[in-house]
Amino acid sequence: MKTHLLTVSATHPEPDVIAAAAACIAVGELVAMPTETVYGLAADAHNPVAVARIFAAKGRPTTDPLIVHIADIDQLAAVATDYPPAYSLLAEAFWPGPLTMLLPRHRSLNSTITAGFDTVAVRMPAHPVALALIRACGTPLVAPSANLFSHPSPTTAAHVVHDLDGRIAMVLDAGACRIGVESTIVDITQTPAVILRQGDVSAEQLTTVLGEVMVLQRTLATSQAAPAPGMLLKHYAPRTPLRLLRGPAAAVQQAVAQIHRQQHTIWLCYAEDEAYAQHLGIATFSLGAVSDGAQIARSLFAALRAADAAGYAVIVVAEPNGTGVAAAVRDRLFRAAEGVIHTVE
Ligand code: TXA
Ligand code: MG
Repeated sequence: MKTHLLTVSATHPEPDVIAAAAACIAVGELVAMPTETVYGLAADAHNPVAVARIFAAKGRPTTDPLIVHIADIDQLAAVATDYPPAYSLLAEAFWPGPLTMLLPRHRSLNSTITAGFDTVAVRMPAHPVALALIRACGTPLVAPSANLFSHPSPTTAAHVVHDLDGRIAMVLDAGACRIGVESTIVDITQTPAVILRQGDVSAEQLTTVLGEVMVLQRTLATSQAAPAPGMLLKHYAPRTPLRLLRGPAAAVQQAVAQIHRQQHTIWLCYAEDEAYAQHLGIATFSLGAVSDGAQIARSLFAALRAADAAGYAVIVVAEPNGTGVAAAVRDRLFRAAEGVIHTVE
């Protein structure tokens, strides 16, 4: 299959481009679309053949359910039912935006989408292109991240093409994603609500709105039944071994220098480390200033992909401190390191 790459304005999507993408969706094809978090691989939620194609194109196990994307609240009634009280508070506060809610599923919803669970994950993305495409299709769109299963999520159209060229009909290129890590997932069918995946909407923000939330503890064993599908550690791991360090900046620098003496090392460093790395001749990708969680989140997956492709023996990266999206970055790094953190002091 030839994959068509179309450029689209991120702020004022061209109607003819959106119409071309909607025409693909209407005949059951797959279109990669930008969202504010990561690129998503979109299909018509009401077309079972298209939904099945998503799993095939990504090489994704059918035990891992999909997020349904809506552009307007009226589209919710066809996919979910019996909304818990937390729903309207969170929709009011965070939609459109990087928050996915688990709601009781509508019985008419294709059960492949929910992998047989009785909840459905729903989100209203805050990206003009995604919203325009959903509206033009006139149907909710299922959209997992547009990467091959177990690769890092794509934050640019080039990442999507790298993974899915020849497997999908179209990629809409609107440039790099603003947030760079996937949406926060919160299960509001339980009280208190449980955060299944951390993202740009932080536990602190959710607590402010709901009063109390729990954060699901990260799973260490890949073989055990996961508390939620897709929460397995292996999910984000690069092929190159990744060594995750925790500790003060000076101790991290010393530890990296030591690793570099033994192994061909690439360092996903912070801006503050660059002069030191250059002095020692250590290859780097800078994630941004250590205190700038938003910039680190935006850089993370592109840096992981580039570092993995560059052919080093080991990728080294230190945990960023801080709350908000920095917590989501720590979570993704923990998974990429398969749950092993090296404390240095
Ligand atoms: O930011 C995002 O959420 C992106 C963009 C494209 O919207 N989408 C995304 O989708 O990250 P995906 O499929 O890569 O990740 C969705 C996660 C999976 O780990 C899946 O297991 C979980 O959501 N999920 C979906 N439905 C669920 C359900 N009913 N119960 C528990 N987890 C669910
Ligand atoms: Mg994904």
